[in-house]
Amino acid sequence: MSTQLRLDLTHAVTDTDLQLLQPNILEAHELLHSGRGAGSEFTGWLDLPSSFDREEFIRIQNAAARIRCAADVLIVIGIGGSYLGTRATLELLSHSFHNQLPRDRRPGTAVYFAGHQLSPTYLNDLIDIIGDKDVVINVISKSGTTTEPAIAFRHLRQWMEQKYGQAEARRRIYATTDRARGALKQLADDEGYETFVVPDDIGGRYSVLTAVGLLPIAAAGIDINALMAGAADAMNAYREPSLASNACYRYAAARQHLYRQGKSIEVLAAYEPGTQYLVEWWKQLYGESEGKDNKGLFPASLQLTTDLHSMGQYIQDGLRQLFETVLTFDRPRRDLQIPRVESDGDGLNFLAGQSMHYVNERAMAGTLLAHVDGGVPNIHIALPEPDAYNLGHLFYFFEKACAISGYMLGVNPFDQPGVESYKKNMFALLGKPGYEAAKAELEKRLQR
Ligand code: PA5
Repeated sequence: MSTQLRLDLTHAVTDTDLQLLQPNILEAHELLHSGRGAGSEFTGWLDLPSSFDREEFIRIQNAAARIRCAADVLIVIGIGGSYLGTRATLELLSHSFHNQLPRDRRPGTAVYFAGHQLSPTYLNDLIDIIGDKDVVINVISKSGTTTEPAIAFRHLRQWMEQKYGQAEARRRIYATTDRARGALKQLADDEGYETFVVPDDIGGRYSVLTAVGLLPIAAAGIDINALMAGAADAMNAYREPSLASNACYRYAAARQHLYRQGKSIEVLAAYEPGTQYLVEWWKQLYGESEGKDNKGLFPASLQLTTDLHSMGQYIQDGLRQLFETVLTFDRPRRDLQIPRVESDGDGLNFLAGQSMHYVNERAMAGTLLAHVDGGVPNIHIALPEPDAYNLGHLFYFFEKACAISGYMLGVNPFDQPGVESYKKNMFALLGKPGYEAAKAELEKRLQR
């Protein structure tokens, strides 16, 4: 297969302006590839599509096959980078109602998520749904100490042990965590869970193509060989630092150009509801990588055409601090023809016989130009179709563009120091031992 991602910058930046950024691109490329850039200890994702652990990959495929046999439902417990890539993939590539399809009409197990918030209502409701089903759990946490998945796992592990007994529950729990350290690794070793590795040199938000994403994605019946092949082709396609030949770097450069022109928000807009979690994954990747040192584009998203009936007004006519990146697919996963109806009360018979995808595509083209006319620069990324190969390619495209953008911005794209602040306050307010002074101070502030 060959690379077919297309990037159109006609409505975002002129060739002359883009070329002015070639020296910055070269510098960022050099920082990333030489390993001399900030956070270089977390660049294992860069050659992952060729260097990944083949033995573990086979173990993942075997475990996924066992899960598909043994379970109606896989519960993926994780948050942030330990969950968004999986959800993005499942929502884009699976049937829109995958979990509701009868077992013999879906390629893999139903997948539910837990541990991505602290809602007791959600967890109770989830337990209602899985009550009479055969369940397997994949608990995913690199650190092994993240509060949200840890609490969900406490509940669900207890539930599994009550349902299956300790020995069978142990066989039905898979842990994806650090190779050697952390509370989850320790527990998995003590209990004898089969474990998979989050590599040391890959941070959460760059980890979708490791066991973090691959095990649940394969269990849902998605072809992880094709996913990795797409990523490998992207790795080869985006190796050279020349803007002329590297679409990934052109995207990074265009974003930086617009940021330097005063744009502070990038809105990723897509026209298929299956992209909802792909854009959430993208938001985490760019928000956590670039939003630091009081810098960075704010990543926002739109689901279109749905949001044209809510946020459309603002995009067209509100404060001009944003630009739009539109993500489209040439072919939808499935299409439909618009029927002719006798009465034609809605006046749409002129569309009879056209495909719904054609209407969606024309809506996209018209909206794009309307937004450009309204002062919203536009970047357009197009892929042939939503399949595992193209998604693997797109994951790598966005990851590498993000690293290059971060270095162009002058930040470390691989750390997330800001995420710690809420945790400190939460632990203090919950009375965690060691946080006594902070607790008193925060409570005084809350009483004011
Ligand atoms: O990108 C990141 O590093 C974070 O979003 C983490 O993935 C998230 O906080 C979950 O961390 P962990 O896998 O350690 O539970």
